Amino acid sequence: MPTNRRVTLASRPNGFPKESDFALDEVDVPGLGNGEVLVRVRYLSVDPYQRGRMSEARSYAQPLELGDVITSQSIGEVVESDDGRFSPGDLVLGQLGWQEYAVARGGALRLVPPGLEPPTLALHAVGATGLTAYFGLFDVGKPRAGDTVVVSGAAGAVGQIVGQLAKLAGCRTVGIAGGEEKARELVELYRYDVAVDYKNDNLADALRGERVDVYFDNVGGEISQAVHRRLTIGARIVICGQISQYNEARPEPSFHPGLLIVYRARMEGFLINDYAHRFGEGVMRLANWVASGDLRWREDVTDGLENAPRAFIGMLNGANRGKALVKLG
Ligand SMILES: NC(=O)c1ccc[n+]([C@@H]2O[C@H](COP(=O)([O-])OP(=O)(O)OC[C@H]3O[C@@H](n4cnc5c(N)ncnc54)[C@H](OP(=O)(O)O)[C@@H]3O)[C@@H](O)[C@H]2O)c1
Repeated sequence: MPTNRRVTLASRPNGFPKESDFALDEVDVPGLGNGEVLVRVRYLSVDPYQRGRMSEARSYAQPLELGDVITSQSIGEVVESDDGRFSPGDLVLGQLGWQEYAVARGGALRLVPPGLEPPTLALHAVGATGLTAYFGLFDVGKPRAGDTVVVSGAAGAVGQIVGQLAKLAGCRTVGIAGGEEKARELVELYRYDVAVDYKNDNLADALRGERVDVYFDNVGGEISQAVHRRLTIGARIVICGQISQYNEARPEPSFHPGLLIVYRARMEGFLINDYAHRFGEGVMRLANWVASGDLRWREDVTDGLENAPRAFIGMLNGANRGKALVKLG
């Protein structure tokens, strides 16, 4: 049996994570228990929520302990199975972590839909980040044709999908992202009507003529404060993420509740896990839009398990162009 290389939490990041907060170790691959499946991981996901798991602050999930494998969704190939639903060679999706081999209960795994090409789509556009965009926009944001939908973090894994779904719903879309290349990509690849580059444009000037019916907020902070000034009566603010605050010791709220009165607006946070009972619906619709070419996507693949911490830190810095993934050898 081969050994298992894993990336674990070496220390809790203080502010922005450093590569030394992670450790690479090697352990024996554990044996299979009843109903368990051994998976060889092929691609793993790099996501902002992992920063939250590294901290002890109260959240919706238990924090990692020092020495734990970094939690992540991954896809991999079944090597051995004690669950009749899975056979060696099957491609599966699960919470397998940043490691080369994982033993999981069969009930915690799903088959990657056969024919999904590339299969990594199950980790983004036809998986967690696509579903986040789908339920966050349609269920929480409730866009109507003709609405203006503003998206922050618009060139990222969630944001790239939100803008295109809003266009499919007949909305006008404004995407906000960092840097000239991402701003160009917003319009040319993800079909945003307007792109705002928050690193180079003056946000107040860039948004001055906008009337925001739906704000899909991935970032919080000053960007969100600038968008809130342009809300319309009855606006809906979807709180998907607040990445600008994830490395702050004292996260600052971007919103003054009095604005909800002024604009008779609704602000609502959501967590994609709460929609698990409707994932089938979302996956089917997202897969159809990808197949028809209505939904474009981009992934940013880093090679090698040992480079996962670097990819993670890069993603927090905005270095990723599309969904950040790591490919294992
Ligand atoms: N509620 C849920 O269930 C759920 C599920 C998935 C994700 N999320 C949230 O959705 C958001 C996007 O996640 P993702 O997976 O799609 O990541 P992503 O957008 O692919 O990557 C993170 C991006 O955040 C931007 N960013 C980093 N620091 C920033 C700052 N200070 N100000 C503005 N932008 C900053 C960077 O883009 P720029 O180059 O444009 O700065 C970076 O590329 C995150 O907040 C995440 O926590 C929520």
